[in-house]
Amino acid sequence: MTMTPGGRVLLVDDEEKILKTLGRALRDEGHDVTTASRALDGERLLAEQAFDVLIIDYRMPDRSGIDVVKELVATTADGERPAIVMMTAHGSVENAVEAMKLGAHDYLQKPFEVDELLLTARRVLAAQRARTELTYLRSERDADFDHYGIVGRSRVMIDISKRIELVAQSRSTVLLTGETGTGKELVARAIHDRSQQRHLPLIKVNCAAIPDTLIESELFGHVRGAFTGAVSAKKGRFALADGGTIFLDEIATLGPAVQAKLLRVLQEREFEPLGSERTEKVDVRVIAATNRDLRQMAAEGRFQEDLYYRLHVIPIELPPLRQRLDDLPALVDHFVQKFSQRLGKRITGVDAEAMAELKRYHWPGNVRELENTIERAVVLTTGPSLTPESVWVMGAASAPTTGLPSLRLHQNVEWVERETIRHALERSRGVKKDAAELMGLSQRALSHYLAKYRID
Ligand SMILES: Nc1ncnc2c1ncn2[C@@H]1O[C@H](COP(=O)(O)OP(=O)(O)OP(=O)(O)O)[C@@H](O)[C@H]1O
Ligand SMILES: [Mg+2]
Repeated sequence: MTMTPGGRVLLVDDEEKILKTLGRALRDEGHDVTTASRALDGERLLAEQAFDVLIIDYRMPDRSGIDVVKELVATTADGERPAIVMMTAHGSVENAVEAMKLGAHDYLQKPFEVDELLLTARRVLAAQRARTELTYLRSERDADFDHYGIVGRSRVMIDISKRIELVAQSRSTVLLTGETGTGKELVARAIHDRSQQRHLPLIKVNCAAIPDTLIESELFGHVRGAFTGAVSAKKGRFALADGGTIFLDEIATLGPAVQAKLLRVLQEREFEPLGSERTEKVDVRVIAATNRDLRQMAAEGRFQEDLYYRLHVIPIELPPLRQRLDDLPALVDHFVQKFSQRLGKRITGVDAEAMAELKRYHWPGNVRELENTIERAVVLTTGPSLTPESVWVMGAASAPTTGLPSLRLHQNVEWVERETIRHALERSRGVKKDAAELMGLSQRALSHYLAKYRID
């Protein structure tokens, strides 16, 4: 291991003088030091933040250091907690031994030299880094087996994973459909990454982001002088992707001229760059994606029908998240882990109530919205797990969670009243007497509501 940069150190001791001296020495060494003069404050900090090293006094008035260590070891996994150094009183070797048995990595017997402390800190930090690296490598490998980061074990997702596996072995055109945020791009990458061409380029084109006037040259390239501003020749993305995969995102937004040219590439595997007479051959797998109903668009003449059939060779439809809520817990876990690791926070997960709330919501933005919600919650939460408050107040904010229009009781009551009346009137074909009877109301009461909501 090379020179160790400083680590995040938590120093807990009830003597302010010790905190000050040792804190300064550790900071001078480049460590990022947090201090606590009470065991309970130390525990709170450990729950809220991730530290690399914990240096803690054995005897403190409010709680013994050994109890803090016990608790920490009991509630965290090996590679995920700080290295622990116990400071013990002069002549109390038993205490040091006890601490080591419980999971401390080293000890310092008071009084000790500052240099001794620095050396110990450096040593346990290096060992700690090695342990974390191991865990990190291991989890990265697990993620590989986890189908290239595609989380989800619902029936549909298992079927999709199998399909990805099969289609990766072919060069067939794939059409990915699904609402926004359902994972189309993720699947496109997974297919490429599992194919034999994974070492060749995967070129992405967001068709919606490129203006109509430029898309043709962007896809197929142009020669010098092909149009005003074409001061030099340019390779198109198809040529760049040669041998590999081209991912045509938001394919429904392509204009008719480009659609025709694309159809030709799919049929003949050839094209001419803008302004060129020369035909170029390409060997490219095409993966297209859209959140629109292409079949419908083709039927209405808004998308070229032949092209639709050429793209629709192997369709993969990603269902909206609300239709596979079985996947929700695994996805939530995945994102909590991802963001708490990135932010250096220790968050164990989502409490049961918050999970129930998440399951009630209808997720119009699908997995992307879930990912954003969890990220916000992880950033803003101060506790060890995500609660309904952290997930909702800070998360999807004003989003209704139950199909109700708001979180305000009054608004919801009024909404239910209005909807019930509308419904009853529909049933009774507008005959007020019948509607009142259906609702168990007197005609007078119904008149009151009709006036209140201005319903004719
Ligand atoms: N099954 C999944 N497991 C893990 N992460 C997922 C999954 N599905 C989607 N995501 C994540 O959600 C986010 C949105 O996914 P992606 O960009 O693939 O959606 P999309 O269908 O292409 O959306 P859009 O139509 O808006 O472009 C990404 O960060 C992606 O990594
Ligand atoms: Mg996308």
